[in-house]
Amino acid sequence: MVKRLRKAVLPVAGLGTRFLPATKAMPKEMLPVVDKPLIQYAVDEARAAGIEQFCMVTGRGKTALIDHFDIAFELEATLAERSKREALMLLRSEAMPPGSITTVRQQVPLGLGHAIWCARSFIGQDPFAILLPDDLVLSQTPCLQQLADVYHETGGNVVAVTEVPHEQTNRYGILKIGATTANRVEVEGLVEKPDPADAPSNLSIIGRYILLPEVVEFLSMMERGAGNEVQLTDAMAKMIGHAPFHGLKFEGQRFDCGDKAGFLEAQIAFALARPDLGPAVREFLKKYINA
Ligand code: G1P
Repeated sequence: MVKRLRKAVLPVAGLGTRFLPATKAMPKEMLPVVDKPLIQYAVDEARAAGIEQFCMVTGRGKTALIDHFDIAFELEATLAERSKREALMLLRSEAMPPGSITTVRQQVPLGLGHAIWCARSFIGQDPFAILLPDDLVLSQTPCLQQLADVYHETGGNVVAVTEVPHEQTNRYGILKIGATTANRVEVEGLVEKPDPADAPSNLSIIGRYILLPEVVEFLSMMERGAGNEVQLTDAMAKMIGHAPFHGLKFEGQRFDCGDKAGFLEAQIAFALARPDLGPAVREFLKKYINA
């Protein structure tokens, strides 16, 4: 029987050097897209897909992320006193159930695979999702829900994939593609950040995964890969053939918010999608486009 998906790991230990000075004293995952920090998009998406337990893999200087999901007692009291009902309701509707977030620290930056390995006690023997908050997806159905549907049907590993320009394969985990049915591809191989000349395809993994707990055993080997880091992609590659492994060409658009241009595009796309802001943003954009 396929175990229900209830856990998610959020790797948030990165330094965010690409966004300095904004990230000098603030975690990059607290950068807002419109009015919501990146981390909260990830948590909201996961909760919409049925996730109940979260593990944030943090590092030094990341306490704002933990505070963000706590109850802001003084703030709520002040809002209540001033009859700011709407703001109060917003905070309350987003409150996390007690005990639903745990944190572990990645003491040394040895890569994404190492970050996930740091969460091994939390993972235990259960399937789990990984959401990289840098990747935002604007879609009809939350991206993780789309993956969860595949996982609950196949009981195997599932990663969200999208086509990237061939010259950009060295930025992502890339699939060797097997049999393909509609939007689902069988994963025959995985390579982390291959040179375009060696890339087996231009289908890249984005920051949404559902993995079986066995991946932890392969991560424990601590083998170094691309960039001399412990790569999640390499550990996942070792699971191919042992359990079903699919890439899902998800419905929706992905924004790489770890990149300045991607982050700015996300601001515009998410603002345009908002009924309260869309018309005004569409109007002022004309000014710049026609200039
Ligand atoms: C990580 C993964 C890579 C994946 C990417 C998605 O890379 O290692 O396989 O394609 O996330 O955003 P990073 O962005 O940490 O370099």
